[in-house]
Amino acid sequence: MNENNNSAKKSTVRSSFSGKLGYVLAVAGSAVGLGNIWRFPYLVAKYGGGIFLLVYLVLMLTFGFALIMAESALGRMTGESPIGAYESFGQSLFLKFGGRINAIIPMIIVPYYSVIGGWVFKYLAEYIRGNVAGVAGDDYFSNFISETYAPSVFFIIFVIATLFIVMAGVEKGVERASKIMMPVLIILAVIVAIYSITRPGAMEGVKYFLIPDFSKFSLMTIVAAMGQMFYSLSIAMGILVTYGSYMKKDVDMEKSTSQIEIFDTGIAILSGLMIIPAVFAFSGGSTESLKAGPSLMFITIPKIFNTMGFGRIFGIVFFLLVLFAALTSSISLMETNVSTISDATGLSRKKSTLIIFIEILVFGIPCCLGFSILDFIKPLGMDSILDFFDFISNSVMMPVAALCTCFLIVKIIGFDKITAEIKRSSKFKREKIFRFCIRYLAPLFLMIILVSSIANAFGLISM
Ligand code: PHE
Repeated sequence: MNENNNSAKKSTVRSSFSGKLGYVLAVAGSAVGLGNIWRFPYLVAKYGGGIFLLVYLVLMLTFGFALIMAESALGRMTGESPIGAYESFGQSLFLKFGGRINAIIPMIIVPYYSVIGGWVFKYLAEYIRGNVAGVAGDDYFSNFISETYAPSVFFIIFVIATLFIVMAGVEKGVERASKIMMPVLIILAVIVAIYSITRPGAMEGVKYFLIPDFSKFSLMTIVAAMGQMFYSLSIAMGILVTYGSYMKKDVDMEKSTSQIEIFDTGIAILSGLMIIPAVFAFSGGSTESLKAGPSLMFITIPKIFNTMGFGRIFGIVFFLLVLFAALTSSISLMETNVSTISDATGLSRKKSTLIIFIEILVFGIPCCLGFSILDFIKPLGMDSILDFFDFISNSVMMPVAALCTCFLIVKIIGFDKITAEIKRSSKFKREKIFRFCIRYLAPLFLMIILVSSIANAFGLISM
């Protein structure tokens, strides 16, 4: 094992987050995004309501906690982004692979993330035009995504907005703005959730969301909840390693992690309370509408605004806030990608950004067209090309990346070193949970998930 002195040297010159809140806010900015507002509610709806919520919460408090701690500690200890962090322990094939898979995942996510960011832009534009009733129509969303050009245009607008922010170096400004926007988003979400819950018939939805129905439990519940946990907390994709490397040594990692979990999950639950009851109130809770998948938010939220009064104002503010949450996440994805490319190739930041831009177009445009002229392509039987990228990154690559991190800690770094890093600034009350998860639970579960989701995709088993 070769403790790299270089990395220790680098970490002293590396820029670091200011103040204790810096790390929490940066991670929260990356964590809170479309995953909470768009992805979480549709998965809850699709995978049985309360039972999904329960599994999600258990996973988040155990695995989620352990993995956030592990990645942040790895970053702070080495002062490096994932590739460098892994390689600071040697040059074996495993270490090369482990670092790289963590770095590649955000490159798979950012294209399709931007496609959905584009949908948010489109809805914002429609509300600004005052088309409140139009967007609430039953087929509005499916008509929009099946257009040939429009979705790609909005996708490119979102990508350019993200790139512009990153290139102009104004992400600090965006982060500062989002500190104001986040509380506004929460207040608005509370208002919308209360409105949604009090519609006739909505109580059924609240029950569906909060009360677990064990008969709806299946292996797929765990697979989907685990994927969502990775996605929502930005785990298993190198981002937290990078952020950990910017973290000062005196920041209480355990406390910060708890704050991030509470914040991220709170917003997800709030989004569930806006959307799920509304599905029951406005669409009669038919299983068809519960299974709407990625389109759920875009179908349900406009129906709420259309009946609510001041729909146009609500629509503009809501989609503007969602756009901000999405941008802070896509900025963190883009930043990671650009620095991975420039570290790997030695190219300048500008050139690396251009490479990433092209990569995003190459993967993102087929995602857009997957709902129109390419809708005959159903990779591995998935509903669309976008679903395919979502599945590959969340249910296949992230478990592999998380497994690598567990292995790195158990076999190469050793628990004592990692916990010593954490204990520099934390009491580490949940150390036992941490050790148990990283050594036994996580590897076992991750293996099961990986094998079963692949078997499911190839039609060998049905979950
Ligand atoms: N966690 C973000 C969300 O919930 C998505 C994201 C994933 C951001 C990976 C950065 C990295 O929307």
